[in-house]
Amino acid sequence: MSGLNTAKSICLCVTGGVAAYKAAHLASRLTQANIDVHVALTKSASNFIGNATFLALTGNPVTESVFEGNQAPYGGHIELAAKCDILAVVPATADFLAKAAQGHADCIASTVYLAFRGKVFVAPAMNSTMWNHVATQRNISQLKTDGVILLDPEDGWLSCRQNGQGRLMDIDRILTALITAAKE
Ligand SMILES: Cc1cc2nc3c(=O)[nH]c(=O)nc-3n(C[C@H](O)[C@H](O)[C@H](O)COP(=O)(O)O)c2cc1C
Repeated sequence: MSGLNTAKSICLCVTGGVAAYKAAHLASRLTQANIDVHVALTKSASNFIGNATFLALTGNPVTESVFEGNQAPYGGHIELAAKCDILAVVPATADFLAKAAQGHADCIASTVYLAFRGKVFVAPAMNSTMWNHVATQRNISQLKTDGVILLDPEDGWLSCRQNGQGRLMDIDRILTALITAAKE
């Protein structure tokens, strides 16, 4: 964790939805706000955006697996959890919500989530039918009970070419929430 008078650090977990491209903008804006950003990408997320983008925007290596060889002897998840003050999952897939609600640890995002102790922000984004599914809503309510700060999706244009709820919260609003937390 960062010490007194040093920049706060955020672990930004990016999971596999179309809105993953927006996480690049968020990573850049956080970096410009003097926050040290460490990105973790799930395998699915890397179908939507590459690690080179985050490496260039944040200046920090990107973690894609708990198995990071000699670079992370305790596992990529432990290293990330230990060095960051805040955890943000943006965007969060329905899959991530289910895994986090159940305590699964089978990808970098869900494993960091379990290994981390501190403020956790989760910004879901998905098709509105997926968002409104009883299973997703059950997972959301479990995560709220568990103390996760939900950055609820908005109504609007979705990549499935429909309007509805499930669009990632506007990046400026996410940025405000994270920067406010980083100043606390
Ligand atoms: C084109 C495409 C778009 C997708 N968009 C989303 C999405 O916005 N939200 C979501 O929850 N899942 C979405 N998915 C499904 C996830 O990629 C899938 O559930 C995956 O297993 C999630 O993995 P992760 O949670 O480990 O990143 C999409 C899949 C495809 C092929």
